[in-house]
Amino acid sequence: MGLLKRAWLWFDDRSGVSKAIGPVATHAVPRGSAWSWALGSATLFAFLVQVVTGIGLATAYVTSTADAYQSLQFISHEATFGHLIRGMHYWGASAMVLFIGLHMAQVFLIAAYKFPRELNWLSGVALLGVTLAMGFTGQLLRWDQTAVWSVIVAAAQAGRAPVVGQALVHFILAGDTVGGATLTRFFAYHVFFVPALIFGLVGLHLFLVLHHGVSEPPKAGRPVDPKTYRRWYHDYLKTEGVPFWPDSAWRDVVVGVGMLVVLVGLAAVVGAPELGKPPDPTLLDAYPRPDWYLLWYFAVLALLPTNLEDYLILLLPAIAGALLVALPFISNRGERSALRRPWAMGIVLIVIVMISTLWIKGDQAPWSPAFTAQALPPAVIQNQASALASEVVVTGAGLFHSKGCENCHMVAGYGGQRGPNLTAVGQRLSQAQMTTRILNGGNNMPAYGGSLTPDQLNALVAFLSSRRPPAVTQPGVASGGSQ
Ligand code: HEC
Repeated sequence: MGLLKRAWLWFDDRSGVSKAIGPVATHAVPRGSAWSWALGSATLFAFLVQVVTGIGLATAYVTSTADAYQSLQFISHEATFGHLIRGMHYWGASAMVLFIGLHMAQVFLIAAYKFPRELNWLSGVALLGVTLAMGFTGQLLRWDQTAVWSVIVAAAQAGRAPVVGQALVHFILAGDTVGGATLTRFFAYHVFFVPALIFGLVGLHLFLVLHHGVSEPPKAGRPVDPKTYRRWYHDYLKTEGVPFWPDSAWRDVVVGVGMLVVLVGLAAVVGAPELGKPPDPTLLDAYPRPDWYLLWYFAVLALLPTNLEDYLILLLPAIAGALLVALPFISNRGERSALRRPWAMGIVLIVIVMISTLWIKGDQAPWSPAFTAQALPPAVIQNQASALASEVVVTGAGLFHSKGCENCHMVAGYGGQRGPNLTAVGQRLSQAQMTTRILNGGNNMPAYGGSLTPDQLNALVAFLSSRRPPAVTQPGVASGGSQ
């Protein structure tokens, strides 16, 4: 007997490992389960990648507002394999969300949530929730402009929820503003609390999968009847069952290894997104938006009418969650085949179309400041071909660009669409109204009271007052002054 074999036998005898794992590894699963049955284990595998790469990141990450940004720069550019590990963690997160989505869609389509697997579904819904929480908390840990602003925006949105709003903000930010306490809290959630929840839920989920057995491929005309299903499934496995290892598990292994290869490839070639500028709350030059998997929801919120938004911000996820939870109770028996449940296919299709549309909107984000806005060309500043703009108006136009106004406001086709178009604002608002608005901000318009000198304010107002529809014969000059 070879030494290796003897060592194994000794280890197995003393540890009992094959007795413990053997039955689990070789338990009978339905023959004919397809590749789509591997989506769940793909999700699990992505999670394990996150655990390993996450531990790697945590060894070098510094949880302090002063050092977090630098430590990530160090990880990204200097640490051995740092670039690769951060890249894998980023793409692994995407993979996890993607596979959870696909796995849920598949389970929904084959109605594997029906009797007796209701709890499998519910623990899966909980896993979806905690996975999204990981995405949200992880983003702040980048601690760059975008990350910090995203959380400020999220908190501002949560804060507008009726009744619980303020408490929620306090909970999210660990205080009233984003700061050291916020970072520490997000870090603790991201590396201890939520992962612990995930481990527990994954354990439960897998236990339930073993307990009820892997669901058989559905067949039209073979409905689930809770009275007879268990006995039927038992007999079914006797004829149609194959041992999980190796007959079915090889697909999971292929998917897992394939994913690892793709993740390493993406991490090496594309990498994680470059960090933005270090956070500076006085700079508005940020592009707050969540990572792609939450981007579509960001679009929902941005597109909702402002007066409904306050309610829907929390209500929409609550409704979606409630529907997911209710599903196995609404329909836990009957046909499983998607062919006999056309509405199931319809729902999946609608959700896919809806999310992709919103996703495209979210990517364009016409409601976000346009940070690439170019300075207004002289022809626009002059407004009228005939009259030359006065010096103060030219100065104001320059400030309009350099102070970031143009990122949110469009003038004659230049600039962002976050705020109202100011092409003809001179006709609409008095100088006093403009001054008040610029100094005080309000409704998504930042207050500039603290960051403009009186001269700058004058120039801005002069410039804005000069903005009139081209038809009106009005030289592009205003006296300035804040009245
Ligand atoms: C972050 C985006 C953003 C930036 C930057 C910004 N604004 Fe605004 N602004 C808005 C929004 C949004 C509104 C509309 C607020 C409302 O609904 O009351 C607005 C409103 C205004 C109005 C009133 C327009 C009207 O038709 O009622 C003026 C004038 C204005 N901004 C000027 C400025 C100037 C000048 C600057 C630069 C110093 C500036 N804004 C920077 C977003 C911005």
